[in-house]
Amino acid sequence: MAKKPLRIGLIGYGFMGRAHSNAFAQVNHFFPLEHQVVLKAVCARDEAKLKEFAGKWNYESIETDWRKLIARDDIDVIDIATPNNSHAEIAIAAAKAGKAVLCEKPLGLNGRQAEKMVAAIEKAGVPNMVWYNYRRCPAVTLAHQLIQEGRLGRIFHYRAKFLQDWTINPDLPQGGAGLWRLDVKTAGSGVTGDLLAHCIDTALWLNGSIDTVTAMTETFVKERKHQETGKIQKVGIDDASAFLARFSNGSLATFESTRYARGHKALYTFEINGENASIAWDLHDLHRLQYFDHRDQGKVRGWRNLHVSDNDHPYCSNWWVPGLQLGYEHSFVHQVADFIQGLETGKPALPNFRDGLATDYVTDAVLKSAKTHKWEKVKHVKAARA
Ligand SMILES: NC(=O)c1ccc[n+]([C@@H]2O[C@H](COP(=O)([O-])OP(=O)(O)OC[C@H]3O[C@@H](n4cnc5c(N)ncnc54)[C@H](O)[C@@H]3O)[C@@H](O)[C@H]2O)c1
Repeated sequence: MAKKPLRIGLIGYGFMGRAHSNAFAQVNHFFPLEHQVVLKAVCARDEAKLKEFAGKWNYESIETDWRKLIARDDIDVIDIATPNNSHAEIAIAAAKAGKAVLCEKPLGLNGRQAEKMVAAIEKAGVPNMVWYNYRRCPAVTLAHQLIQEGRLGRIFHYRAKFLQDWTINPDLPQGGAGLWRLDVKTAGSGVTGDLLAHCIDTALWLNGSIDTVTAMTETFVKERKHQETGKIQKVGIDDASAFLARFSNGSLATFESTRYARGHKALYTFEINGENASIAWDLHDLHRLQYFDHRDQGKVRGWRNLHVSDNDHPYCSNWWVPGLQLGYEHSFVHQVADFIQGLETGKPALPNFRDGLATDYVTDAVLKSAKTHKWEKVKHVKAARA
């Protein structure tokens, strides 16, 4: 039977533009879907670079203005892979035009903006998803399954960190291509919205909602030259952020992120301790899940190092033979596969815009607490009307 085309319009051809394009190109090779992904158009502002990108990834056409892309009637899905300050405007316009919307994280610059995005998406009734891709590393999905099966029992502790070291040099400029993450106007915040947002999304998925937080942030380099204006300007982002949290299920948590941890490039780790069992995961070893079960017979009890690559592990049977591991890029392929399966089954894949808003509410509370030096309540997202 001929597959139904699902015509993609991608905006942004940077790091995520490549990760998404790779996922779109791969998904039909490995997942049985009723839809065929069609790379219809890619949009960015530099026409020469855009043509080169479109040629490399086999996009059928290009647009240099995202409004024109959204206005086209041969596009089904708008995929937003641009810096954070453009997510809301593009997503709201795309929803109004009746397009399905895939949006990079964080959803908005803050919760207030993300609320407007949720309202627009739900008013339009269009399929939507936020690219919190770490949920779909098979080892993280397996962690979710183990928790859902009740293997950990009551959960006491959640511990997460995301460490990098690429902004230590005080001469690094802020703003503009490649460096927009250092410019608060474009990024919204520093590591809180960029890196901790990932840790928070995973945590909310694995361990439920967060009620209160108390945080500290620091900006180690106070002024940097702006790449676009050439002027020395105050740095408005948080270079480091750490917070304590209480989950609604009674468990306690610590979260930490920085771009000043010399020697670490992308050390995202989490550990969860329950009454019966614990699990731990490390992005640098992303195909493994550490699992300790206290109910094992004493003489063989210990941390098990699960190589998540077997046929009964999430997503793995779609790929190679057991024992051959998957990596970073596969999490994006899995996300596209689940999104399309959601369209086909009528059971939409998560995280959707409401889940993205939930993370933005936590990052809002973290940034507020860092200013007030007090415990702050986290707004909870109301359930969507059926
Ligand atoms: N899910 C993840 O793991 C992950 C990882 C990295 C980045 N991100 C998110 O993805 C988004 C993009 O980050 P990136 O690292 O790919 O950035 P990037 O700087 O590599 O790429 C951004 C792209 O957006 C384009 N762009 C900017 N403004 C535009 C506009 N008005 N119209 C059209 N194109 C425009 C730029 O030309 C560039 O191609 C951010 O929101 C970021 O937080 C998510």
